Amino acid sequence: RLAEGEEIPEWFSYPEVVAELRRTHPPRHQQGFTVFFTGLSGSGKSTIANALMTRLLELTGRPVTLLDGDVVRTHLSKGLGFSREDRSINVRRIGYVASEITKHRGIAICAPIAPYEADRQYNRQLISSFGGYIEVFVDTPLEVCEQRDVKGLYAKARAGIIKGFTGIDDPYEPPSNPEIVCRTTEETVEQCVEKILAYLYQEGYLK
Ligand code: PPS
Repeated sequence: RLAEGEEIPEWFSYPEVVAELRRTHPPRHQQGFTVFFTGLSGSGKSTIANALMTRLLELTGRPVTLLDGDVVRTHLSKGLGFSREDRSINVRRIGYVASEITKHRGIAICAPIAPYEADRQYNRQLISSFGGYIEVFVDTPLEVCEQRDVKGLYAKARAGIIKGFTGIDDPYEPPSNPEIVCRTTEETVEQCVEKILAYLYQEGYLK
């Protein structure tokens, strides 16, 4: 019996069994995978996710689906708010769509805040039963996100105009076991992307 994701050993040579195992356990570069970004608003998730998508399209020619936080909320999760429950539904919905893409050997890139560890672990379990799950923690300190304040939302949250804003008066639980950590205060977008690609090659998801 092969474990999930395990490859057929070179020495194993029963043709019918090998054929069946190849069908049920394709090598990693033929499997789908999900790159799941998590981090505060303004941490740089979307920027890195978009740059990664461009590089993956160039390198693989395979279809790549980007499920970005903001865009998902205007379509898939329209009507959901930012309560703990709504965030959880939103993040698990994204995970479900990514799991379907992964199951059918596609590439999914997700970039919600995903502030809760339990939801990320749920997605990890679901997605890794079909292919690769690579969690990328965009670890930008709150002070830096707040300084950037690209959308002006931190100022509104500080002024009490927006209630329950992640990092201000709503929690963000840092991931306990991310595959990759991007520090945008020390690394450029390109360096973050190269780091993720290097990981994908090293783990056999890209050939
Ligand atoms: S979550 O927590 O994963 O469900 O959030 P997500 O779907 O990624 O949505 C985050 C974007 O919504 C905007 N926004 C807020 N963020 C955090 N807290 C509150 N209360 C909030 N209200 C609106 C914000 O622009 C986030 O965008 P990003 O791209 O992360 O900056």
